[in-house]
Amino acid sequence: MTSLLFRSRLVLCAALAMLALPVVAKPLKVGFAQTGAESAWRTANTNSMKSEAEKRGIELKFADGQGKQENQIRAIRSFVAQRVDAIVLAPIVETGWDPVLREAKRAGIPVILTDRTIQTADESLYACFIGSDFYEEGRMAADWLAKKVGGKGSIVELQGTPGSAPANERRRAFADALSKHPGLKIVDSQSGDFRRAGGKEVMEAFLKKHGRSITVVYAHNDDMALGAVQAIEEAGLKPGTDVVIVSIDAIKEAIQAVVDGKINCTVECNPLFGPKVYDTVAKLLAGKPIDRKSFNKDELFDSSNAAAVIASRQY
Ligand code: AHR
Repeated sequence: MTSLLFRSRLVLCAALAMLALPVVAKPLKVGFAQTGAESAWRTANTNSMKSEAEKRGIELKFADGQGKQENQIRAIRSFVAQRVDAIVLAPIVETGWDPVLREAKRAGIPVILTDRTIQTADESLYACFIGSDFYEEGRMAADWLAKKVGGKGSIVELQGTPGSAPANERRRAFADALSKHPGLKIVDSQSGDFRRAGGKEVMEAFLKKHGRSITVVYAHNDDMALGAVQAIEEAGLKPGTDVVIVSIDAIKEAIQAVVDGKINCTVECNPLFGPKVYDTVAKLLAGKPIDRKSFNKDELFDSSNAAAVIASRQY
């Protein structure tokens, strides 16, 4: 009898103690499948995602795709297996995502696309897109160039990663805008894979093939433009003077090159969207309405405004 009373008191105490325990919220678990580390832009984007997660106490599972779609697909499968709360994907190329996104959807895990878009027949496979308008960036670069060179020039184009949204859109927008300027022609176009070494290598080959007839370089990103600057200098020419260079990203080093007169113009593509991504994840998980597509506002820098922003540039 005494032991029964003792035991029931123990159970009661344990129950009361449990009630008194503070409820500790589990940290949000987010998986981020990044493309790789091909450019300074990419490094700034990764840093923004990591530092903002840390600030907010989010458990971030980061996977570097090392430039390969199959690595990113493997990462998404592992995030599903780990039952993360949300998946963030920066898709290296536009196509081939449907099967793995279907797996995430079946597991009830929302996918947010950042930076790059995908082509899919089933738009329900992702919750939303957050990034820049690559078409608009290409258009801004072409319009600026047409004014600068008076609608005349022989252009070589350094393309980004084949099949990626920024390479596709920046190429399409530039070509569309040039159709209004018959004196501006793209004489050669090749991929430098958004890498500095790639840009240098392709530019060296262009210079060998076309020599001094090249008057303009259009680079799909600043790293390739900076690689082209090196190749042009090594060929004994003056980048920014003998060859006009237009580019995209507006990383600090490229803005400095604009100040130094080696790059003529760079259109911004802001990579610092960590805060926006996690705000969206929080809203999504709370069942609040979110924008289906949200674009960063990007500016253009040339000799008229580059010096004014260089000190405050974060990336
Ligand atoms: O998707 C954005 C592009 O990818 C940036 O312009 C480039 O620098 C990066 O690697």
